[in-house]
Amino acid sequence: MYVAQPIEWTDRGVVMLDQRRLPTKEVHHTYTDYREVARAIREMVIRGAPAIGVAAAMGVALGVLHCSAKSLRELRGEFDEICAVMAKTRPTAVDLFWALERMNARFTELSIARVNDVSTIRQGLIAEAQQIHLEKRATDEAIGRFGAELMPREGQVMTQCNAGALATGGIGTALGVIRVAIEQGRKLHVLVPETRPYLQGARLTAWELHRGGIPLTLITDNMVGHFLQTGKVGAVVTGADRIAANGDSANKIGTYQIAVLAKENNVPFYIAAPVSTFDLTIPDGGHIPIEERAASEVTHLQDIRIAPDVHAANPAFDVTPARYITAIFTERGVARAPYIDSLGALAQSVQAAAK
Ligand code: MRU
Repeated sequence: MYVAQPIEWTDRGVVMLDQRRLPTKEVHHTYTDYREVARAIREMVIRGAPAIGVAAAMGVALGVLHCSAKSLRELRGEFDEICAVMAKTRPTAVDLFWALERMNARFTELSIARVNDVSTIRQGLIAEAQQIHLEKRATDEAIGRFGAELMPREGQVMTQCNAGALATGGIGTALGVIRVAIEQGRKLHVLVPETRPYLQGARLTAWELHRGGIPLTLITDNMVGHFLQTGKVGAVVTGADRIAANGDSANKIGTYQIAVLAKENNVPFYIAAPVSTFDLTIPDGGHIPIEERAASEVTHLQDIRIAPDVHAANPAFDVTPARYITAIFTERGVARAPYIDSLGALAQSVQAAAK
């Protein structure tokens, strides 16, 4: 089955598939400067929480590779500056900060082990960024296996935004679950809300599923209630950008209303996300920073004005309270309420496995 490749580390630089041009054009860019990678994240050439994390790690590796530092002290200074630029790209997806923290921990480890060997540290950080990408692929596969068990044997499932290969660099989180379920023989048909204003559903999920031969129906966002009420939807499965300690989960704007309507219509609502999406430092979703994007994404469609020149709001994410979430699929297993316990246990199992 076709799996899109949003990002790749190559000898020429970091190669990204430009997601702004999909579905009409498949354009790749090769970046050799970390500032270009930061801009690519900010401007949505690459998007989706885990893929943003991979891009940030590769951006840091690229910056370290090309910087002029000659000593460990100089390299540390440049490294901190590069990480600061990456951290300012997008605020909501915690995977970005998780990946920067991973790169930072590796830098510290390497500098303790090989004092002043700048070239070894550079190579070590490149290897770490590639390792993060590899791990994301394995993580998606594991999430897919756990989640597939809870998919219906046949019928319709709904998703939101794009939580597929384009969003992760692996097989996807929510779409990975659907893909594995279909590979296991389940007969699923995916309802894809278009996901205004940026249309990740219409442009990216519809493209990915279509290319992968997975049956789908594209719907507008205001059809969600109708289909949950009448469409025999067996499950909703979405990704997440940040999950608080109590299970409240930030995901693409519109997810909250889908979750509420799913509960109203007795449809299970699942989230598929790696443990790196957990932010156990915050007690609940009220503490999740919500990115506000340009009003022009609302007033315009692909540069064509569709509204008068008025004020338009554009919060890119909303928070689904934990009470609407039936379960959270992760690479370490399935979390259920009370999430304060189940998420903590999964995070600990990841830490224990890393030792
Ligand atoms: O603004 P985006 O496109 O980066 O947002 C991505 C999402 O919110 C996705 O829905 C996803 O669930 C999280 S990434 C797998």
